[in-house]
Amino acid sequence: MMKYISRIGFVLCIFTAMLSCSKPEPYKVDNLWLQNVSQSKHEIYIITSRPINVSPIVSDILSTIDYIDTVYISLDGDVSLRDGFEITMPHQRRIDILVRASAGLIYAAFHLQRLQYCGCEATFPIREVPSFDLRMLNHWDNLDGTIERGYAGHSLWNWSSLPDTASSLIVQYALFNASIGINAVVLNNVNAAPEMLDKEHIEKAATIAKIFSYYGIRVFLSVNFASPKALGFTKTADPLNNEVRAWWRDKVAELKEAMPNFGGFLVKANSEGLPGPLDYGRSHADGANMLAEALEPYRGVVLWRAFVYSPTDADRAKQAYQEFVPLDGQFADNVIVQIKNGPIDFQPREAFSPLFGAMPNTQQAVELQITQEYTGHAVQLCYLPPMWKEALDSKIYRNDTLPTIAELTSVRRLRKWPSAIAGVANIGDDRNWCGHPLANANWYAFGRLAWNASLSSDSIAKEWATLSFAKAEPAVRDTIVSILMQSREAVVDYMMPMGLHHLFAFGHHYGPEPWCDVPGAREDWLPRYYHRADSIGLGFDRTTTGSNAVAQYAAPLDSIYNDINTCPDELLLWFHHAPWSHKVKSGRTMWDELCYHYDRGLKSVARMHNEWKTLRGKIDEQLWSDVDEHFNRQELDARWWHDACLLYFQQFSRQPIPQGTRYNLDKMKAFHIRMDNYTSATIGYRED
Ligand code: GCU
Repeated sequence: MMKYISRIGFVLCIFTAMLSCSKPEPYKVDNLWLQNVSQSKHEIYIITSRPINVSPIVSDILSTIDYIDTVYISLDGDVSLRDGFEITMPHQRRIDILVRASAGLIYAAFHLQRLQYCGCEATFPIREVPSFDLRMLNHWDNLDGTIERGYAGHSLWNWSSLPDTASSLIVQYALFNASIGINAVVLNNVNAAPEMLDKEHIEKAATIAKIFSYYGIRVFLSVNFASPKALGFTKTADPLNNEVRAWWRDKVAELKEAMPNFGGFLVKANSEGLPGPLDYGRSHADGANMLAEALEPYRGVVLWRAFVYSPTDADRAKQAYQEFVPLDGQFADNVIVQIKNGPIDFQPREAFSPLFGAMPNTQQAVELQITQEYTGHAVQLCYLPPMWKEALDSKIYRNDTLPTIAELTSVRRLRKWPSAIAGVANIGDDRNWCGHPLANANWYAFGRLAWNASLSSDSIAKEWATLSFAKAEPAVRDTIVSILMQSREAVVDYMMPMGLHHLFAFGHHYGPEPWCDVPGAREDWLPRYYHRADSIGLGFDRTTTGSNAVAQYAAPLDSIYNDINTCPDELLLWFHHAPWSHKVKSGRTMWDELCYHYDRGLKSVARMHNEWKTLRGKIDEQLWSDVDEHFNRQELDARWWHDACLLYFQQFSRQPIPQGTRYNLDKMKAFHIRMDNYTSATIGYRED
């Protein structure tokens, strides 16, 4: 447990803003409305062409900008601005902000503040238009306060004390989100309890929604598809049944009444045992369209997840494409199909999902995972933007004008309905918000990328380090950026290099168990389904002579991936069952290359740790030692991954491990962490 009371933050000195509710009334001078909103740092006048009350959040942030004292605000921006902004500086000490949506004012103010705190000179004019309309956090929070795959304590929502008492953390959380442009939050787990939609929980959600409304954040709910039946209102949940449809229509009206900023539903249906339209012989489109119809009058949207797979198919990686591509064109206009970046499940490195771009008549959104289910929980450092950028910048070869996943998904297919991007949140009620003291960088980065998908991982890391370690020397921040930037590839190297995937322990997904065999378990939940190690080689054959998943990619990717000599080495074992002796691009055999990567992963963690050690005395001591402790554990766990995987695969390759190992395979196999899907790993591996 963290001993220090540090909430490493990316929002500075503005908490007073949300408390200052005494708004000065605007008064008219000529044809302009004037408001003196001087509250903290210095006098500042806000002038508008209409009598709008500028939120104290905005005025308080603006009053921290030391080179201005007058701000002209216009809400007359055209549609192309979306909820972005334009800022000009017609005179010294005066800026003009043009927005279309009032939330744009919050983003403009934070933008100026970020530039100031980062020490970057603002060069006017500034025009910022967000890449995605809905920049969403998906919380996998349960109504009992636990969080599925949550590694930072319990849910912030504290359902049991709502609606009467809302934790002040919710206000801070909303402010943090607003500061990085996040404007939509799904409150509850995709494995949704029907009770989320009962009167009591709607009332609780409404309290949160009210707080969010001050920060331009819309509330979405995950819904259980069988809710009307499970709550006892209907005998079926068949989406074509009139009573069921009427129930959803009434429910949306009730939600909208309780929460004017309610935005719609996120749905996981017919996936991992959850109910859905397929139970009634209907399609995903039938199910999504029923909800879309109920939401349409309120401009609400349905985010329908494409995370589906079944135990009987030969290759899990192919299933979402197989189920969804035939439905292209059948989804209502206000349905967005939400697709995980890879076709399996948030692995440290995956090929991108071939579903992207394969449904040209359907709005699609990317779902990324911020919580580190498969990248070391809150124990290990893994700065995720390099992974997200890999997916977002992937060329899909399906649409010449929208070549990458980021471009394809950020464009509105229909003008009226929004584009979206989603990140599964890593936030809980831990004192440092995200569990690992540096994991806050991932929350920050998700928001920044959702706002501007073309930002580089490196530039975001620099921003975050500058804002979070404001008082530190530049060299300290450089070291932190360097550590962050190495961390993801290190995790890939010591966990699953060269396209290996899903070697995780059963259930909790923390440590390695390439040997895992749970009697009666679904084959597609066991590592052997994915690694396929045998005396010939390693990896899943997805070529034309294997599962033929390569055929789901557009040319030329299909043939690039299909050919063992052109397939990129980092995805080799994703697409090929490569012989142990196969020569890779480095000239090494596949086995030697595997050993090289696992070893490189170990060395990278040691290097990151050593770099961190140089910061002692230069930053807060408690923070330093907390991260140091995490690195101790990460070094141990990386070693465990290294030994477990190489010793296990060596039984098939029958070749030496050049760098040697420390642990004993049988002892490792006998070791189990007692942990469920709602708790974080808190201990390192031990030899005994
Ligand atoms: C993974 C994860 C589950 C989660 C699921 C989903 O399988 O392990 O906890 O529910 O993804 O995204 O729906």
